[in-house]
Order: sequence, then C-alpha cells, then structure tokens
Amino acid sequence: MNTADLIWLNGEFVAWEDAKVHVLTHAMHYGTGVFEGIRAYETERGTGVFRHQDHLDRLENSAKLYYMDLPFSKEQVRDATHELIARSGFKSCYIRPLVWRGYGPMGLNPLENPVEAMVAVWEWGAYLGEEGQQNGVRARVSSYRRISSDSLIPHAKASGQYLNSVLAKIESLKSGYEEAILLDDQGHISEGTGENIFVVQGGTIYTPPQTAGILDGINRKTCMQIARDLGYDLVERDIARAEVALADEVFLTGTACELTPLREIDDIEIGPPGPITREIQRVFDDALHGRAPQYAEWLDVVPVPSKA
Ligand SMILES: Cc1ncc(COP(=O)(O)O)c(C=O)c1O
Repeated sequence: MNTADLIWLNGEFVAWEDAKVHVLTHAMHYGTGVFEGIRAYETERGTGVFRHQDHLDRLENSAKLYYMDLPFSKEQVRDATHELIARSGFKSCYIRPLVWRGYGPMGLNPLENPVEAMVAVWEWGAYLGEEGQQNGVRARVSSYRRISSDSLIPHAKASGQYLNSVLAKIESLKSGYEEAILLDDQGHISEGTGENIFVVQGGTIYTPPQTAGILDGINRKTCMQIARDLGYDLVERDIARAEVALADEVFLTGTACELTPLREIDDIEIGPPGPITREIQRVFDDALHGRAPQYAEWLDVVPVPSKA
C-alpha cells in the first residue's frame, strides 16, 4: 500500500505516522464511526474525484443516522481532500474519510463523546484483482445474513456494521472463494461484502431494491443510470438465490471493486463476462477516467495548487 505522507486529522495536516488516537476512543470499542470509500482517477482534466459530493452526502447521512453531527462542513472535508491529493502527488488514489466518536466517557452512551474526523489517501489497485476485474470472480453465498434494519441500519456506512462483512469475507476466503454474497433477512439476494449486485437475464438487468438490506451504493446508482442510458430495462426487485446461479450474466459494483463480473456462485458456473456486463463496464470505465463527456459532471477535478 503506497500511502501519502500526510493525513488530515481534526482539521490539521499531520504526518502519516503521527495520526494517532487514544486507545479508549469510543469507536475502537463499540464501532461508533461512519466512513466513506471514494476513488480519484487520472483524467485529461487532472485528478478527478468520482462522485465526491454524493459520497460526502452519504457520509453526512450515515453520521445523522448515528446521532452525530459532522465536526466539519462537507465543503471543508472536500477542500481538505483536494489538498491531501495535491500534496500526495498521486494521480489516482483511494480516499478514506472517517468520522467517529472519540475519547471520552466509556459505556454505551456515546452522546457525550467528541466527534472527530480524518481523511487518508493511498494508492490502491483493483480490489478483487486485475484478473478478477477482467475475467470475473468466484463467490459463495455466505452463511451469514446481511444485517437487517430491525437490528442495524443497512443504509449507514458505519464501522461496527462491517463486522458482518468481515465475517462473510473471511468465511468466503477460507472456503476457497474470492467473495461472498449475503442474503437478506428474508432469504433474498442482498449484496456482496462491499459491493452491490446485478443479475442479467434475457436482456433485462435486475438488482435488489433498497429494502433488501443493501448499502445504497453510489456505483450502483451510476451503473443503473449507465444501463438505462444504454437502453436496457433495469428493474429493482427481490432476487432469489437460484436466479444468480441461473443468470446469463452477473456483476458486482462498488468503489473498491469498480465493476467486477461474477463468473461462478457456489461452484455453479455462470460463465465468462457477457456482452451486457462488458458494455456497461466499458462505459463505466470511461466515466471514471473522464472519457465520457456525458458524465463529466461526476468528476470533481482537484484544483492544481498555485505556485505563489
Ligand atoms: C456493504 C457495501 N455494499 C455496497 C457497497 C458499494 O457502495 P459504493 O458503490 O458506494 O462504493 C459498499 C462499498 O462502499 C459496501 O461497503
């Protein structure tokens, strides 16, 4: 992992190795943090942060759902991120903002603990591997169900909630797969450990609805729009487990994995990436790298610092 020299921590730029918190930080004990995963890409116009505002809006919403006010405005976090990227010299990178309950009273009531914030950036390649992104990955259906809204908040990107994804991920790796697909509390397909899922059958594209315990993925929305703009019928509806195995094509979307095809589920072959997956992947890749003028507004180009 090639990291930047600096981290933005509570309003200051500090050296990477000095970005520290107290061991009694509330979030370390109880998972009371919310975060984002964002990517910035090299484009002809400069380094472009993909759908930056949408990520900052989701960060604020996740914080709100956990009764936290952001300690800095979204504009301040955006500016800090721009500066961090400019000072890192990275042409493309992964961006991790985190907002958390800090050191203060111990116990389950976090409301008296300070809310802190940081942003870190580092260079990060294909999350599920180059090979996986090109030719597809193998997944299993997890024995763990995706967190449901009667016990947690699937719509929030909250640190503690990721224990669910971590267990599913470990289980999938230990049993010889690259990824896990989790069912929702009703037994319908929900999503991957850090990805949304799309199933193609008979030329129509299906994806689980907001009520299937999913994270409202920004790349999910992006690929839905691209699919519709390409003229495909895209339907949000519950998906049965067998539909994934019997699909013509299946793909995953997420900031980390971008668009990664699924070629096998539970040792049943779906097949190599199909034509619809390939077409959406190509346009999506163009959008990420600033080659799709119709989606230019999705890129927040990092200003070049003046040499005053
Ligand atoms: C559980 C989960 N689902 C879906 C996604 C995809 O969301 P996005 O496209 O906004 O990265 C992510 C990644 O953030 C995730 O962690």
